[in-house]
Amino acid sequence: MQPVLESTIYKLLRMASILELITGFIYTVGILTIVAFLYENFRSLVGIIKAVLEPYFQPQLPKTLLEKYGKWAVVTGATDGIGKEYARELARQGLNLVLVSRTKEKLIAVTNEIESQYKIKTKWIVADFVKGREIYEHIEKELAGIEVGILVNNVGMMYEHPDNYEEVSEDLLWNLMTVNIGSVLMLTRKLLPRMKAARRGAIVNLGSSSELTPLPYLTAYGASKAFITYFTRALEREVASHNIDVQLVLPGFVVTKMNAYSDRVMDGGLIFPNASSYSRSAVFTLGKTSETNGFWTHSVQYFFMKLAPIRLRMVFSHLLSTRLRSDALEQKARKEKLAT
Ligand SMILES: *[C@@H]1O[C@H](CO)[C@@H](O)[C@H](O)[C@H]1NC(C)=O
Repeated sequence: MQPVLESTIYKLLRMASILELITGFIYTVGILTIVAFLYENFRSLVGIIKAVLEPYFQPQLPKTLLEKYGKWAVVTGATDGIGKEYARELARQGLNLVLVSRTKEKLIAVTNEIESQYKIKTKWIVADFVKGREIYEHIEKELAGIEVGILVNNVGMMYEHPDNYEEVSEDLLWNLMTVNIGSVLMLTRKLLPRMKAARRGAIVNLGSSSELTPLPYLTAYGASKAFITYFTRALEREVASHNIDVQLVLPGFVVTKMNAYSDRVMDGGLIFPNASSYSRSAVFTLGKTSETNGFWTHSVQYFFMKLAPIRLRMVFSHLLSTRLRSDALEQKARKEKLAT
């Protein structure tokens, strides 16, 4: 053989083996990525399935929320929307309730309504969460002597509708921070020591599936929910060895007053469940999984959103919030026209 030909063959062979190496590398990275993705995304579902099957294999474990966590549940923002329906569902499962909210009349109405439906004890505490730090001592005093098994940090506020940052009032921004973030930090701080001493308990934090993506026109709201995600995940790890469950609930759109700016959401439907369907489904996951979207169609939405890289998600969320903002402004103009 001629030496020139020989060296060409040798070169080709070397290239082929390098190509093989690169292909192998890409395969490995691909498989690892898929495994990590599946683990991350199906953890919640697997957790639920495991918990549903558990009683058949380990019948000695506590089955009901009552046995698992204790007799009383505290729910904040409990007179409307998801908070009210969480309370009702917990009552249906036999838990006594402490409802915490701003308006006394509404608290009385809701406790009467729930007591007439279920044989449980109730108590209510008037607390205006926008007042900030001063209310928590009062809440703590009112809770003295009550064995709190479940804390549902539900209270939260939103913009009136998606809007330019500078159009949102300073009052609303300050209140949003105080309510959405402050309430979760402070109530958890007050009740966690008691749960640790009892060696059981559950803290449920209502975040939002909007935490997946920064939200133009809902900048502060979206960021407050991202805070809830990080806080909850970290605390979950921190206290797990004390037999305390900390659950992150990430709803999509639910038909509640919070979304009243959008007729599209308020019309309801499979991806816009009402608060009672939503809450029943979300409470079902309590004690079964540490992170959930709470409702199956919201999990499907979240799953597909998460498939997209963050930059793409942001393009999408920008389009969506721009659309929601113009819908809201249209709705507002229509109402104003009707009023005059
Ligand atoms: C909520 O939605 C469910 C399912 O669509 C329906 O059965 C139920 O009546 C609704 N509840 C309220 C209070 O509208």
